[in-house]
Amino acid sequence: MSQSSLWLDTTERQPRAPLARDVGVDVCVIGAGITGLSAALELRRSGASVAVLEGRFVGAGASGYNTAKLSALHGLTYAQLERRHGLDAARAYAEANQHGVERAFELAGQLDIDCDLRRKPNVTYAETAADRDRVQAEVAAAGRAGLPASLVEELDLPFEIAAAVSVAGQAQFHPVAFLEGVARELERLGVTLSEGTMAVGVDAGSPCRVRTATGHTVAAGSVVVATHLPFLDRGLYFARCHPERSYVVAAPYTGEAAGEAMYLSTESPSHSIRTHELGSGTWLLVGGESHKTGQADAQERYERLERWMLERFGVQATMRWATQDQMPVDGVPFIGPVDHVSANVFVATGFRKWGLAMGIAASELLAAWVEGRDHPWRSLFDTRRLRLRAAAGSLLKENANVALRFVGDRLVKRADVDSIAPGQGRVVGQRLAQRAVHRDESGELHALSARCTHLGCIVNWNSGERTWDCPCHGSRFAVDGEVIMGPAVSPLERREPPS
Ligand code: FES
Repeated sequence: MSQSSLWLDTTERQPRAPLARDVGVDVCVIGAGITGLSAALELRRSGASVAVLEGRFVGAGASGYNTAKLSALHGLTYAQLERRHGLDAARAYAEANQHGVERAFELAGQLDIDCDLRRKPNVTYAETAADRDRVQAEVAAAGRAGLPASLVEELDLPFEIAAAVSVAGQAQFHPVAFLEGVARELERLGVTLSEGTMAVGVDAGSPCRVRTATGHTVAAGSVVVATHLPFLDRGLYFARCHPERSYVVAAPYTGEAAGEAMYLSTESPSHSIRTHELGSGTWLLVGGESHKTGQADAQERYERLERWMLERFGVQATMRWATQDQMPVDGVPFIGPVDHVSANVFVATGFRKWGLAMGIAASELLAAWVEGRDHPWRSLFDTRRLRLRAAAGSLLKENANVALRFVGDRLVKRADVDSIAPGQGRVVGQRLAQRAVHRDESGELHALSARCTHLGCIVNWNSGERTWDCPCHGSRFAVDGEVIMGPAVSPLERREPPS
């Protein structure tokens, strides 16, 4: 079983050097995923000088680990969106996402990017009669929001459905090939794109100063933070979103089913299905089994997904990968100024598992913010909004969950070090002395502080990916303690292994 994203595995990526000197630019973009690179391109094309900083490499975050659907239909979204935020908001949400789909075609055409981009309908299906009403409500709401939605009762899937909502004119693609194409264009336009350069702080001002882990600084008139969840704590995005991990399994596929559209089920946790044609043949991708980061066993989730693929399609998975998404408390992404006082620092986050078309659309909104222009989607996604009626329930529930993890995980009776199998990890010790202990394949123990360097929650072992994951706001660390994903920017501290 290969533990790697199909998209990263089938792209010849060009490594890029870390930032090696201090630089000054009009705009510094932090994060080289689809939002960051698309925003950098918008801004550079408007005449700004731009530097892009990426902590790892292009597509290392959610943009390289996903099912690669570009769509304005997001499961069952529009009925709820209209109920919580009104019809105008639902229309703006649909327009922004559909615009992101169309913009992907424009960019791939302009930049001559071969990224397997092709139109397909996107479908949300219900297997049970109990969900039929919800599907019908979504057809009506998505239609009112301006999408070409229709009710469907049969699909080319190898099992019966009760009903489905289908939206035409959506798309699938190869996201890392797309990103590499945009990155090459940025470099052709003179943009500095530095990989292996983690930003660790932003001092707002005129200019702003972006500090990096390599010790160099970028002075910039404006800063765009496109790091999935902002690593800056101002704005409290870690309390206004919660992180979820979900999984994808894939295999070469010679069957006929599932080729006509892209699919997502209404059940919870849901299942995502689609095929992808590569030069070497067709692949079947099945995704789902999501859960809050650090709060479930990844290995078990992978196994469940593999069983589901085998039962439904008769195909044994050969490849698997996982991703992480930020779920906003009121169901709408945050795009705009980081807070009320830092007028030239902007963020985009909370894409609720649909960050590809939304990320491209967000880049236009970010460019408008940087340039001081108004934009028709601005008020819906405004980071400073306060929609208590739509958000209060989720806000209380999610932050109560974080408080419970912060306190409760210090009191849990921990494992004995002898119970750690080779290749696995456990938290051992009590209260403030808890250590994250990993036993490598040779049997040697390695210990780190178990306190997440963001706000101090206790990390958990992720057996599926062999990482330490924080159950509070989703920071993830490698077995050597290095940061894989923020909001943390500092590694877990090393500790003496238990004897
Ligand atoms: Fe916030 Fe760990 S990510 S405490």
